[in-house]
Amino acid sequence: MATIALYLSLLFALLYTLPSSAQDLPQTPATATYDYVVVGCGIAGLVTSMRLSEDENVSVVCLEAGPFDHYEDSIQIPQFIGRDIGSIYDWNITTTLQTQLDGATRPIPLGRAVGGGSIINGMVWNRGNQDDYNSWQSLGNPGWAWDDLLPYFKKSETFTPIFYEGVAQQPVTFVPDVHGRDGPVSVSYPNYYWPQTDNWFRALNQLGVATVYDPDEGTAAGGYFLASDIQPNNQTRSDARRTYYDPFLGRRNYNVFQNSHVTRILFDNQRQQNDHVSLHATGVEYAADAASPRQTVLARREVILAAGAIHTPQLLQLSGVGPSALLNSLNIPVAQDLPGVGRNLQDHCLVYVNYPCKSNTPFGQSQCLMSNTDQNQSLTTPNECNTNTTFNNEAANEYRTSKTGPWTGMPSSGVAFPSLQQIMPQIPPATSEDLVNLLSAAQGRENWTAYLPSTYDASLRLGYEVQLSTLLPRLSQNITPAWEQAELS
Ligand SMILES: Cc1cc2nc3c(=O)[nH]c(=O)nc-3n(C[C@H](O)[C@H](O)[C@H](O)COP(=O)(O)OP(=O)(O)OC[C@H]3O[C@@H](n4cnc5c(N)ncnc54)[C@H](O)[C@@H]3O)c2cc1C
Ligand SMILES: *[C@@H]1O[C@H](CO)[C@@H](O)[C@H](O)[C@H]1NC(C)=O
Ligand SMILES: *[C@@H]1O[C@H](CO)[C@@H](O)[C@H](O)[C@H]1NC(C)=O
Ligand SMILES: *[C@@H]1O[C@H](CO)[C@@H](O)[C@H](O)[C@H]1NC(C)=O
Ligand SMILES: *[C@@H]1O[C@H](CO)[C@@H](O)[C@H](O)[C@H]1NC(C)=O
Ligand SMILES: *[C@@H]1O[C@H](CO)[C@@H](O)[C@H](O)[C@H]1NC(C)=O
Ligand SMILES: *[C@@H]1O[C@H](CO)[C@@H](O)[C@H](O)[C@H]1NC(C)=O
Repeated sequence: MATIALYLSLLFALLYTLPSSAQDLPQTPATATYDYVVVGCGIAGLVTSMRLSEDENVSVVCLEAGPFDHYEDSIQIPQFIGRDIGSIYDWNITTTLQTQLDGATRPIPLGRAVGGGSIINGMVWNRGNQDDYNSWQSLGNPGWAWDDLLPYFKKSETFTPIFYEGVAQQPVTFVPDVHGRDGPVSVSYPNYYWPQTDNWFRALNQLGVATVYDPDEGTAAGGYFLASDIQPNNQTRSDARRTYYDPFLGRRNYNVFQNSHVTRILFDNQRQQNDHVSLHATGVEYAADAASPRQTVLARREVILAAGAIHTPQLLQLSGVGPSALLNSLNIPVAQDLPGVGRNLQDHCLVYVNYPCKSNTPFGQSQCLMSNTDQNQSLTTPNECNTNTTFNNEAANEYRTSKTGPWTGMPSSGVAFPSLQQIMPQIPPATSEDLVNLLSAAQGRENWTAYLPSTYDASLRLGYEVQLSTLLPRLSQNITPAWEQAELS
């Protein structure tokens, strides 16, 4: 372990002293004009910038609050997934105090680097269900249905179905038609299969959660063996920076500025047409940090916001676009009163429930749902990397020399997105009528608005009602995933 730590810190120190690309050099003129100014160089920002700059006559700048990474192991090697949560590549923000939980805050990890969330995320390559996208379209967004998006999903990936031989018995299969063959992101599988993953799928099956095959088809709920965004040849992360930026360093019309936190969108005079306020974005202000002078960059054509689900509405509010009462309370001049900006955030929560199933744990066997005969003391779990130095050293060596073994897959590629129907029968004597009742209760019928903050505008309440009436009938279908269940160490 000491040797690895030394090796890693030397490598880190060495990499840290090297500029990671030409973009690390000072290059920003005080005011510059581009055709497109993209705010935030995460997944959406880099994809948009790369695609727009395919036209050599169009100039694009993407402004990113965070830095370029330095190709650290913690980013590139799957074994280290999770390690950069709370690092220099995380915004480190938290929720407000949660009165309905225990009064405390909870962390909200968010990538802050060129590449955004794809630098620190779990590398799970999955799509939503067809029905989700079809609902987007039916809510008034033509062009966003599954059939419209599938060509773009395929365009983003080079799917390489190479399976570790130890996985031969396992539920790994794929539907060729829904995968791409020559897109920027490498999508494949880890070169290892944790033995516990068999048990995990067996346990799901016993609970009534079926194992389903290619989740990227978007038609089923259940347990999946998912692909990762991983380079199959060397088992490293295939993130947005390494796929939509690094290969295009030679494009002079594609610029990325790191350490450039956008503080305000600049608008020209409001134009009134039939009482309608129309704002026209002309550029943005940005700065390296709170103490640095603000700089300006102008857009000939468009300013494109891609700062993520939390910071895009924040930036709009700081620029005067948002609920007027809120903006007034903060002395921000109102450019446009838009009650929905920064409201109704819905996130994907993560709850860990760990039952160690080895007899030498402090919990003892009685805590374990398996019978004694099912217990397999020789089963290797991902936790072995943290608790057994010999095992971890061997795994590190195997990874460095042959790009195989436990370091290629952490914690595992088993993920479940069960439907409510799959889970409900486990609460006897549940029936489909119980499911209907559950969903009606969720809607709260006439009283559901009581659960929304009193400051919410009527238009928001209406939107929430439409959302519920779209979502709840779908949650009663067996093909609709209701939440994520992951296999951990
Ligand atoms: C810990 C973690 C694990 C995850 N695991 C998975 C997974 O396994 N599979 C999966 O599919 N998804 C996963 N996700 C979610 C996925 O990474 C996000 O959905 C995705 O990154 C969102 O892309 P985006 O472009 O909208 O935003 P982001 O990728 O977050 O990009 C937004 C960018 O804008 C920058 N920015 C913000 N404000 C400003 C500003 N004012 N000025 C300039 N720049 C700004 C940010 O620094 C960031 O780089 C995970 C996310 C996290 C955090
Ligand atoms: C870019 O502009 C040049 C000169 O006007 C033109 O010849 C060329 O075709 C243009 N390229 C594209 C991709 O439009
Ligand atoms: C997040 O916290 C870590 C650990 O304290 C720190 O190193 C990092 O700089 C923080 N990130 C930001 C964006 O402040
Ligand atoms: C992994 O392989 C890809 C594709 O060949 C290459 O671009 C990348 O530099 C390699 N990464 C590492 C860390 O070896
Ligand atoms: C225990 O696990 C090992 C390794 O995966 C396997 O070879 C063996 O058959 C398992 N034993 C039982 C009783 O399941
Ligand atoms: C630690 O890992 C080594 C190598 O895989 C193995 O031989 C040994 O039994 C493990 N030790 C424990 C305590 O599990
Ligand atoms: C709705 O709220 C009213 C007033 O608080 C209450 O009397 C009624 O029972 C509630 N209805 C439901 C279905 O919860």
